[in-house]
Amino acid sequence: MDREEMSNEENYAFDVAGYLHIPGVLNKQEVNRINDALTTVGETEGMLGWAKQNRELFRNLMVHPQLVWYLNQLIGHGFRLDQAPRLLGNREGEGCSVLTGGDEPRDPSRAYYIQKNRRSCQGLKAIWVLEDVEEGDGGLHVVQASHKSNVETPVDLATLQDDMGLVKQPVLKAGDLFLLAETTLQGVLPWANNSKRLLSYWYAGRAAIQSNGPGPGADEDYLPEWTKDAPPEHRAILNRPGHTDANPQPMLNTDGKKTWVEKSPERIHPSIYVRDPNSAIDDKEFYSWDLNGYLIVPGVMDVDWLTKANAAVDEFQDRVVVGSELARGSKTQAGTGRPLLSGLLDLPDPYNEPFRKMIAHPAVVARLNWMKGGGYRADGATVFCAVEGTSGHALHDGNEPMSPSRGYYFKNGRSYAETITITWQLRDVEAGLGGFAAVPGSHKTQYAMPPGIRTCDDTMGLVVQPAMKAGDVLFFMDGGCTHGALAWKNPIERRGVLIKYQSRNSNWGKGVIDPQERWGNVVEGMTEEQLTVMRGPERDARDRTVPRLDVRDGQVSVSLDIGH
Ligand SMILES: [Fe+2]
Repeated sequence: MDREEMSNEENYAFDVAGYLHIPGVLNKQEVNRINDALTTVGETEGMLGWAKQNRELFRNLMVHPQLVWYLNQLIGHGFRLDQAPRLLGNREGEGCSVLTGGDEPRDPSRAYYIQKNRRSCQGLKAIWVLEDVEEGDGGLHVVQASHKSNVETPVDLATLQDDMGLVKQPVLKAGDLFLLAETTLQGVLPWANNSKRLLSYWYAGRAAIQSNGPGPGADEDYLPEWTKDAPPEHRAILNRPGHTDANPQPMLNTDGKKTWVEKSPERIHPSIYVRDPNSAIDDKEFYSWDLNGYLIVPGVMDVDWLTKANAAVDEFQDRVVVGSELARGSKTQAGTGRPLLSGLLDLPDPYNEPFRKMIAHPAVVARLNWMKGGGYRADGATVFCAVEGTSGHALHDGNEPMSPSRGYYFKNGRSYAETITITWQLRDVEAGLGGFAAVPGSHKTQYAMPPGIRTCDDTMGLVVQPAMKAGDVLFFMDGGCTHGALAWKNPIERRGVLIKYQSRNSNWGKGVIDPQERWGNVVEGMTEEQLTVMRGPERDARDRTVPRLDVRDGQVSVSLDIGH
């Protein structure tokens, strides 16, 4: 490889999504040769042991230079093949509507680890695409960002009773390579027409124990001689990986007096917590929120409420202010300035009523309480009135760089989203016609947003623009989840009312900030440097209104240019 490391785009994509699509690794002739060998032999497995003239291609693919280069970075040096290559979708149990994966409960032998730019994806499928897979073809399906899910996969999603709008079928070209983390929720569903050839090699971290091989070692037990007459609980922990009696590894249990080997294959791993059936949190909502960084709650507003809210916006059209173009250099999202009508809570009676009704509505309070914890405040309400041709809003924010005043944290079953913005949809938002857009999973990424994501000129398939109905309410992690808007292409104007909620923990502005206001006369006669630390809390983000202190040559001075 002529590059030393994966690009930030590739790192970001795999870290956010749990998979990486690398186009055109094999050329046409290479793909043809592999397809010919598959056709000649007519089998879907066992390639590594085929007759010499047919197997070499598959042995070479196993250590293809480009693949090895990626695996060294994604799994780590010393990775190994855990399961032999085979064509996906040809085994019993495949081709049915079940997804596997997810990171709750966590399986360390397959999990994804990342810290300070070091990664170890303990289980990873390398899928060679041997035939084009178009949209709607079926086959391989994935759920973006599910390799980092903190919440158990809802049964309805795993069994596809309800795909929750989360399940994607990647569009692939012959010659592509698709790298898929083992804990990304995935499944091979029935093909729409003909099955397509996806050749999968399953790799693992150098020490990770996953499956036993098919060789002679896996056919026998291996125990020290003296354990022949030992009790089963001794034999259960003295086995060796790869042998029959170590797959699966037996689990011991105890009542405090005696120890026994559990017969059930259920994993034993006690927690100090139990799932609270009285939390009043909807399982699927929590899963979506933690997975994506946003949540859509359908049908909160009724027709009467919608009518009144829309009538109020109609009434004050003369107050709509067209702001600046926000596409920030994007080619695909360029357009005209964004029209806003702000001050909705301060409109004269009775026009304020449909908006004041929003701010502490039970549907909002119920969710904000579990999303960020009680104690939060809102500012005003503003309606976004994009017209056909209004520019997109370049995507912004995300988990890297980290910001305590607006990030997402999950601990002990609780969501801590410090800043949440709610958008009440007064009109339908159609798929593909612009509006709110976000990168599901970006609230957990360790990599900075690439420029192509910011402009949406090169989204790598990671950006989602969800369709919504009038009356739906969108909650998103403003600051945590990378978000913005795509250019508005609908002849019917956008009508989304935005209300921002900050947690009790950080101040985004206003309130008692001035040193004199906060401390009184004690600040009299203080120097500028001293006054700098006497201010009240205020987050200034990009605007740089909070003075910082700098130290140079032992001298302290005030500056707006340093620090985060
Ligand atoms: Fe924003």
